Amino acid sequence: MASEKMLQALNEQIQKEFSSSYIYMAMEAWFAEKNLDGFSNYFRIQAMEEKDHAYKIFDYVNKLGGKVTLEAIPKPKSDYSNVEEVVEEALAHEEFITASINSLMDMAVNEKDHATVSFLNWFIDEQMEEEENAQKVLNYVKMLGGDSRGLFMIDMELGKRKYTPPAASAE
Ligand SMILES: [Fe+2]
Ligand SMILES: [Fe+2]
Repeated sequence: MASEKMLQALNEQIQKEFSSSYIYMAMEAWFAEKNLDGFSNYFRIQAMEEKDHAYKIFDYVNKLGGKVTLEAIPKPKSDYSNVEEVVEEALAHEEFITASINSLMDMAVNEKDHATVSFLNWFIDEQMEEEENAQKVLNYVKMLGGDSRGLFMIDMELGKRKYTPPAASAE
């Protein structure tokens, strides 16, 4: 059984994942308004995945017999000056989440909570991927996003992203 402190920290991470989802929804809306449907699609899927992350922790807390307590989600930023700024903030946000997952892992290790260490390993790997993906989009934007033609190409590419629901067997 996880400690009260660990359960509390897991609940805070649920809030952070839902909050990430909300931030990406706001980014999705910003791109939709600019008629950049590919970027918009990319961030919708990003938002859906963050909700999946929240539920993954939600289910784990329940499995432990702990109490899930949902906290308030802050209002996300809705105005950006350009595409690069949005993508830069998305990357910075993933770095913030990585730091948060890392400190959860430190806590689990310190408490010799091996079940939670094992549970969090998935998130450690996921964060590496999340940062890598955000970095890739940022690189595209920096390389090609300077004119509308380049932006159109990136938008086409990001429009291809498909949502994959979490595997039922993953639990
Ligand atoms: Fe996440
Ligand atoms: Fe993420």
